[in-house]
Amino acid sequence: MDTMKLNNGQEIPVQGFGVFMVENNGPCEEAVTKALAAGCRLIDTAAAYFNETDVGKAIKSSGISREEIFVTSKLWLQDYGYEAAKKGIDASLKNLGLDYMDLYLLHQPYGDTVGAWKALEEAVRAGKIKSIGVSNHTVKLLSNLIPEMEILPAVNQMECNPFFQQKELRKYMEQYGIRLEAWYPLGHADKELLSDVRLSKIAGKYGKSVVQVILRWHLQEGIVAIPKATSMEHIRENLDIFDFMLTDDEMAQIREMDKGIGTHDPEDMENAARLSALKVHD
Ligand SMILES: NC(=O)c1ccc[n+]([C@@H]2O[C@H](COP(=O)([O-])OP(=O)(O)OC[C@H]3O[C@@H](n4cnc5c(N)ncnc54)[C@H](OP(=O)(O)O)[C@@H]3O)[C@@H](O)[C@H]2O)c1
Repeated sequence: MDTMKLNNGQEIPVQGFGVFMVENNGPCEEAVTKALAAGCRLIDTAAAYFNETDVGKAIKSSGISREEIFVTSKLWLQDYGYEAAKKGIDASLKNLGLDYMDLYLLHQPYGDTVGAWKALEEAVRAGKIKSIGVSNHTVKLLSNLIPEMEILPAVNQMECNPFFQQKELRKYMEQYGIRLEAWYPLGHADKELLSDVRLSKIAGKYGKSVVQVILRWHLQEGIVAIPKATSMEHIRENLDIFDFMLTDDEMAQIREMDKGIGTHDPEDMENAARLSALKVHD
């Protein structure tokens, strides 16, 4: 699979595979096994998805060499702060059964993010993580954190799809070379998005599906999308986007679809309280 360059020189596959809400102890291992067999080389998990062990098992049994697979996980809020984060990083490595992760993110922007980031930076120096990044960091949250960082985030993983294009954030991140990775790239299978007539018209022209047009739009915008799919049919369809190209006019039409509103506002402190209540270990 083709790659894009990150601001630290590392390469990231242009599209990944997310495993949010895919159950551990079987279903997640099966889904990742299918994704790897279909040619996907980026797997996105998190401590808070409780399925890092299945991701590790699928990688091990795939027979694909470790260097060919780009493994992302995320530190959960319970493990923020310098000392706790060091343990959280080691726990992710242990759960995955790996001696390094390609990308590790601060999953949410609350609590002692500065202390947690220091532990991530240290893990980069120790060879435990190749690239580090953040998730759910708006312009305001990122600009508070950046002055405290020695290593800049390589990635910010945010909700993004044609209805919520993160235009202001992308412009802000450009100056630091921080790459946007899109969660909910298909709007979590949002019916309105997947049946949009503008997208259907473009899809018809190329003999592709609306989902493939959406994923192609992300690719041509330089955004790494990490769709989740459980059926082999969906997994294959999502990877079959490399034999057509949207025109400048079609890209412009899709840019016009932006409503600027998503499902999740990281700056809403009710989210901070709700998410902080989730525990990933005793
Ligand atoms: N950092 C964060 O805070 C955060 C938050 C949310 C998500 N994420 C990451 O982003 C990933 C993607 O998010 P998501 O899984 O919730 O949403 P998504 O990828 O936008 O949508 C997934 C849904 O789309 C369906 N789908 C996939 N391919 C399809 C196709 N070709 N045709 C029709 N439907 C298709 C899937 O169905 P099937 O499963 O039936 O195939 C599933 O219902 C997650 O897995 C996770 O890794 C990160």
